[in-house]
Amino acid sequence: MESEDFKPSKLGTKEYWDDAYERELQTFKDIGDVGEIWFGEESMTRVLRWIDRENIPENAAILDIGTGNGILLVELAKQGFTNLTGIDYSTASVELAKRVLQTQDINNVTIKDTEEGKAGYIQALREALKNQGLFSITSCNWTKEQLLQMFSEGFEFVQELPTPSYQFGGRTGNNVTAVIFKRLH
Ligand SMILES: C[S@@+](CC[C@H](N)C(=O)[O-])C[C@H]1O[C@@H](n2cnc3c(N)ncnc32)[C@H](O)[C@@H]1O
Repeated sequence: MESEDFKPSKLGTKEYWDDAYERELQTFKDIGDVGEIWFGEESMTRVLRWIDRENIPENAAILDIGTGNGILLVELAKQGFTNLTGIDYSTASVELAKRVLQTQDINNVTIKDTEEGKAGYIQALREALKNQGLFSITSCNWTKEQLLQMFSEGFEFVQELPTPSYQFGGRTGNNVTAVIFKRLH
């Protein structure tokens, strides 16, 4: 797991996200702008469509890991979901998400700080999910193959959600990868 292949880029570091969300929080305080949906609105819509297709009950426990500004939770709350939690390791993101939810009068969503670290992330994810519990991950750092390897123990691959691809130098690639996994036992 800790092989060279999985070394995060600068984009994957806590320092990067702390800086980014401190700026986003300041902008929100200054002008009320909620900031970026990081991979674009389409990436959020893709996950919302998947949730819709799965007919997930409104009282299902949904955990948004790396919630950022919490906008996915805002959308889920507006769609009637009642058991929502967001976690993030960036304190500024946690503060921003709380404020964004407040301004939308959404008071039944829990937002919490979490620990740093990929091992911590996978462990926290396992603990948060029930047996057979589903999760969706959208990543700009890891390819589908890397995600399959990371989640090879204790998780089952369910499906890949199609994301826009680009062509460069005769090769095809994706800016983001969106994959659904299921927790096993
Ligand atoms: C690409 S942003 C996405 C934010 C938001 N979900 C969105 O779609 O706009 C990644 C988020 O995950 C958080 N994050 C990254 N690694 C994490 C980890 N190991 N544990 C908790 N949060 C993490 C970052 O602080 C950041 O808020």
